[in-house]
Amino acid sequence: MNSGVVTGVEEYIIDNSIFRIGSVVEVVGQTVKVRIDSGKNTSSILYKGKVIQNISVGGYVKIKKDFEEIIGKIEGELIQENREAANKKYSSNKDRISRILSIKVLGYLDNGKFERGIKELPLIDNTCFLIRAEEFNNIHQFVGDDDQPIKVGQLEFDDGVDIFLGVNKLFASHIGIFGNTGSGKSYTLAKIYRQLFKEFGERARFQEKASFLLVDFNGEYIDDAIIDNASKNTYDLTTSKKITDIDDNEKLPIDKITLENTTFWSIFLEATEKTQQPFLNRAIKDRYIESEINNNDFFQYVVAKLIEATSVSGRNIDKAIPTEFLFELANYLNDDNVRNAARFFISKLTGGTELYGFNLDGVFNNTENIGAFKGKVESAFNSRTIDVSGLSKIKKIGLKIILKYYDEMIRGFSNREHLAPLIKRLEKRILDIEKVLIIKDHAVDATHNLTVVSLRNVNMTIRKMLPMLIVKEAYDKKKQENNKSHSLHIIVDEAHNILSSSSDRESKEWKDYRLETFEEIIKEGRKFNVFMTISSQRPSDISSTIISQLHNYFLHRLINNNDLLAVEKTIAYLDKVSADSLPSLATGTCILAGLMAKIPVVVKIDEISNKCNQPQSHNINLVEKWNN
Ligand SMILES: Nc1ncnc2c1ncn2[C@@H]1O[C@H](COP(=O)(O)OP(=O)(O)OP(=O)(O)O)[C@@H](O)[C@H]1O
Ligand SMILES: [Mg+2]
Repeated sequence: MNSGVVTGVEEYIIDNSIFRIGSVVEVVGQTVKVRIDSGKNTSSILYKGKVIQNISVGGYVKIKKDFEEIIGKIEGELIQENREAANKKYSSNKDRISRILSIKVLGYLDNGKFERGIKELPLIDNTCFLIRAEEFNNIHQFVGDDDQPIKVGQLEFDDGVDIFLGVNKLFASHIGIFGNTGSGKSYTLAKIYRQLFKEFGERARFQEKASFLLVDFNGEYIDDAIIDNASKNTYDLTTSKKITDIDDNEKLPIDKITLENTTFWSIFLEATEKTQQPFLNRAIKDRYIESEINNNDFFQYVVAKLIEATSVSGRNIDKAIPTEFLFELANYLNDDNVRNAARFFISKLTGGTELYGFNLDGVFNNTENIGAFKGKVESAFNSRTIDVSGLSKIKKIGLKIILKYYDEMIRGFSNREHLAPLIKRLEKRILDIEKVLIIKDHAVDATHNLTVVSLRNVNMTIRKMLPMLIVKEAYDKKKQENNKSHSLHIIVDEAHNILSSSSDRESKEWKDYRLETFEEIIKEGRKFNVFMTISSQRPSDISSTIISQLHNYFLHRLINNNDLLAVEKTIAYLDKVSADSLPSLATGTCILAGLMAKIPVVVKIDEISNKCNQPQSHNINLVEKWNN
């Protein structure tokens, strides 16, 4: 025998003596049953000095059909009585049973390269073989020729073959990372993006053409997580400090245009679609009120409104409106001048229809009386100015909305019941908005292409609204630019916070709006190069439209039955062996499935070598803490 060179005949013999395991006895759909040849019961076999794993559930096999080589995965094994042998009087017991493998067809070999999908199904009597080491490696070779690999981990079984993923296949896609708490989601998320930034972070083209927005609900990615702090923009937002203690640098810069957008306010004020949103639209677009606010004589505008409110006869205006208006202003502007005026004003209200001694019914048709009344109102203010010049842009828009509300009330245009709740929310929420947002000055534009927005120190309202807002802002902007060579990657850890489809605590309209926004990004984003990465403990909570449209999945340990169902139901190509192993995966181990991997594989995600680059989500060591 010529050493080293394997001839076709020898290969045939080797195949048939060592690698052959049996032949096909049944084909139903994509499931193939193979009867194992007798004498194939050892768990491993020795070939050329190497141990090869013999038949095992979860292992791969190759079925030859003429020149086609079909690859399948062993999903189970069962025993069948062999009638023929059983009927023979002197047959050995061993021959009376047959071992049957249940195999799911995964793909085929095309010129030695593994391709996923079904081109042909086997026929009865086709021969089934174990696969060779090089074929095994081939199946786990996920990176296309035109792609660039990053290493994410190793196969959990099978001697830890390194698993590389293609940058294109992975990052030009929507990614879902699911698993119970503590199963390693945040770590995996940090790892894949760390690998990407290690590979590309320094390149100017990458910095210019890709932007990453990470919504971090628990402050796990601030400091040096993923990449060092100096190479990313971190906004550790807070609403728990006093506004005067918050530096402008700490606030998230947003575009002025966003602020003048009705959507922004609709989101923050949870405006209802039918009445409140149109009102907000009118308020924000109102140039007249805006010019009055920017006018030095803002006080005159207020006086004019008060007069209008108290003087117009025939309209059914709530008598409380003028005082409410003044108090609202006083509080909003936090202005003692206005507050005193409001008190004075009230003290002069003598009940009924009288104010300042005037009978209000119809009196104000008379200009002389109006003049006198105006004097009284003016004297109610100590000085004649209300200073609004120092208000921030955000507060000015809030003021515009308040003024518009009273304007419409006084003129009898709008229904108080419909709008009052909106104004109440505005009063409260604008304080929070001011703590976390600042109008972007072009000079302080973001300098890095990774932006981390931490929401660990913000209150519930901001936690709920802000992610929605910044994601929508970024998406809309990208959509408008429609620059094909730039991509936007939106990353949301703990995505159930904003993608939950089962929450009852919010209005239906708001929920629909919220979900539609994200569903749109998932459904249409790809066309504008917008890709989402979402991570969640509760896949069953997230709308199935979203889960089923993801391209790539990292599935960590999942125990709850509903979560398992949600994942299995939506990820069609997840085979049974993989799905069954989900509840028992170790921390840091996950199943990769989707476009990036030709077949679902169980991978142990590599450690992030530098501790400071890991997400700040470490399990607490109680004993260590208590002993020190
Ligand atoms: N691949 C890994 N290698 C080493 N350690 C890991 C790995 N994955 C996770 N860990 C460790 O396991 C712990 C939990 O991981 P992680 O915070 O990522 O879980 P999680 O799924 O995000 O949990 P939660 O849903 O509560 O946020 C951490 O201490 C982390 O350091
Ligand atoms: Mg986490």
